[in-house]
Amino acid sequence: MARTIAVSGSASGIGRTLAGLLREQGDEVIGVDLRDADVCADLGGPEGRTRAVAEVLDLCGGTLDAVVACAGVSHFTELPVKVNFFGAVALLDGLRAALAAAEAPRAAVVGSIAGTQPVDDAIVRACLDGDETAALEAAAKVVQAGDGYKTYPSSKSALAQWMRRVCVTAGWAGVGIPLNAIAPGVVRTPMTAPLFGDEAMLKAMNEAVPMPLNGYADPEVIAEALRWLVSPANTHMTGQVVYVDGGAEATLRNQDVF
Ligand code: NAI
Repeated sequence: MARTIAVSGSASGIGRTLAGLLREQGDEVIGVDLRDADVCADLGGPEGRTRAVAEVLDLCGGTLDAVVACAGVSHFTELPVKVNFFGAVALLDGLRAALAAAEAPRAAVVGSIAGTQPVDDAIVRACLDGDETAALEAAAKVVQAGDGYKTYPSSKSALAQWMRRVCVTAGWAGVGIPLNAIAPGVVRTPMTAPLFGDEAMLKAMNEAVPMPLNGYADPEVIAEALRWLVSPANTHMTGQVVYVDGGAEATLRNQDVF
């Protein structure tokens, strides 16, 4: 049966590929992105988030079968905290009631292997407190100190932790909505394209994200995993961060996590 699925980040990379796969199987996709989408909105700020939720609700008529929060940015600035954490959470929270109205609702976020890397605790804490002002202040401090590389891992770690906290609550598990994350390693998309042209960056990336199984992934690999997570077949998996990363997480954390 055709389902209606909202996908943020639908104009590029993983989100675009997922939107294509879902449309191919007959689903109606409501794409959300800065441009080239059914709903054009900036998830980096409150006005855009509110408008995105309102327009998706309008287009789906108040009942939504699934949401995938895929939009994200990788920057050494405060932006990842705004988009990757607060943008994703606002979209999921704002659409939760419409999901609850569906027969087999599903939700997923896109995390990252970066979420296992060193983070700034103050950013993560403020995100989990839902305090965007404090999170952005903490991020600004990190950037000023020359540690801007920590804002992206912090945003993704906070997103995974938020997902695990809320997934078992009355608002999610209680109304039958599985909520999970796919955490990719390195995926060949416009986001990573500049890295492949820079030998020093490539070397650093290969050391940070070792992928012994089949190397860098194409976006289809991640999109297929997301497609299953938000399909009716997923009745009982929730709160999981599924690393689709060519073995990076297993290499890096080895026996510490099992
Ligand atoms: P991409 O850059 O190809 O696509 C990201 C999309 O998000 C773009 O269409 C962009 O316009 C949209 N977006 C960015 N800021 C936005 C905003 N403020 N409001 C609305 N839309 C916005 O990147 P890619 O690789 O497809 O990334 C998708 C997700 O996967 C992101 O969350 C990223 O952090 C995550 N990821 C990507 C990896 C990679 O190696 N490419 C690795 C791990 C995670």
